[in-house]
Amino acid sequence: MIWSADVSGALEPLHARQISRRALLTAVGVSGVGLALAGCTTQPADPDSFVNALPIPPELSPRVDGDTLVFTLSAQAGTTELIPGQTANGFGYNGAYLGPTLRARQGDRVRVEFTNALDEVTTLHWHGMLLPAKYDGGPHQTVEPGNTWNPEWEIVQPAATLWYHPHVMGQTAEQVYRGLGGLFLIDDAALTEAGVPSTYGVDDIPVIMQDRNLTGSGDLDLAGLNATYGILGDTMVVNGRALAALDVTTEAVHLRLLNACNARILHLEFDDQREFQVIATDTGALSAPVTANTVTLSNGERIEIVVRMSADEQIMLRSAKGTNDVLDNQEMNILRLRAASSLATSPEVAQTLPGSAAPVLPSPPTVRDFQFGNDMSINGVMMDMSRIDEVMAAGAVEEWRVTNTVMPHNFHAHGCSFRVLEINGKQPPAWQQGPKDTVLVAQGTSVRLAVQLVDEADAEHPYMYHCHMLRHEDEGMMGQFVTVEPGTEASVNRTLRS
Ligand code: C2O
Ligand code: CU
Ligand code: CU
Repeated sequence: MIWSADVSGALEPLHARQISRRALLTAVGVSGVGLALAGCTTQPADPDSFVNALPIPPELSPRVDGDTLVFTLSAQAGTTELIPGQTANGFGYNGAYLGPTLRARQGDRVRVEFTNALDEVTTLHWHGMLLPAKYDGGPHQTVEPGNTWNPEWEIVQPAATLWYHPHVMGQTAEQVYRGLGGLFLIDDAALTEAGVPSTYGVDDIPVIMQDRNLTGSGDLDLAGLNATYGILGDTMVVNGRALAALDVTTEAVHLRLLNACNARILHLEFDDQREFQVIATDTGALSAPVTANTVTLSNGERIEIVVRMSADEQIMLRSAKGTNDVLDNQEMNILRLRAASSLATSPEVAQTLPGSAAPVLPSPPTVRDFQFGNDMSINGVMMDMSRIDEVMAAGAVEEWRVTNTVMPHNFHAHGCSFRVLEINGKQPPAWQQGPKDTVLVAQGTSVRLAVQLVDEADAEHPYMYHCHMLRHEDEGMMGQFVTVEPGTEASVNRTLRS
């Protein structure tokens, strides 16, 4: 399936210097290409080449079974057009690249009927979701080709932009790169009442950002998956489309920004440095909007912003250069926003948002250290599927410290929501103080977290913590923890039966 009404026409002129050299070579004859070839791939693509209508992932309507919302998802291979008019072989859910948007509210019961229609084993992980570990879709919940898996749980957390993706040991990078991923939105009418634009696809826009390398025919180039940080692409693909533009028809737009790159770090800003309001981080809303003009997202992280535009304006969402080695040494244009000549009125965002209270550390807190090592280790060891690394009390609030003296990494944990208390001893910027599940831990950095653990006890099914750079997690930069009935931690078997 190709998302409808999203192809703005075949063979737009390829001025894009971000498009790979090989893609350009086959496009010779299209005007503007000669000039583009003279550029190098470190230059951002020409803003005028961002003409392809941004596809909006379709919302997946659930079937209602008693008190349960039932969603049907199938992982499959197919062809898509990352560049209009050119064929790419991708993987997707219910389609050929990415997947539909699932939506539910706190208190809903949901079931997902998942079929693996690929030729290879996969898993389906709910990134940021608080749910029982056996339904978390981590490396243990493998689904063989042709098989089904039906996780079922109650939504116990507030409004947020969550996402789903495969998590099979050793194959996550390739499967995500080929296109497996999608959004799971938890809704709350209180955000709409607080003035946050909420009309999906109109002024509430998912922005799934992925750097990709495209071959001469516009197909996905998989070379480089095994590089030090894994693959880094020179073409930004947003919601499955390169050189994308969003037509804005309202004074304010709510962008749900997801860094779904395999490894790249994005320093997001608009080309005119305009200010915007940050309203939510990974796992939920802030208590008040925070004004910023740049935010950093490492891969796996989300941030929601509201940006205001005037009639006829055009602005470019882009990523500025940073200092994290090859992960951000390239300035990249991402998505052009084109405002119509007359815009529908949008309310102002209220000064108070329905954000959840920050977890409070008990005193003294349980403190846990996670130390990144040179050899893709955490606390000196690499992932062992049969080893439980940490045992925690279900529902507890703990203090975690993640320390990185080696190359840039980030840190993501399942089965929890956390707040970043300190980065190198200092408070993080206000826009980074909301509820989170993933945090950048740059080289030479130590972060201190207040972690609210899920209120689910299961001594036999672990949650994961890991570097979210997909090559690194595939290589084993991951560990496992279980959450158990408080007081039973000491008696938990640290070896999983297979
Ligand atoms: Cu988004 Cu353990 O992953
Ligand atoms: Cu996750
Ligand atoms: Cu890493």
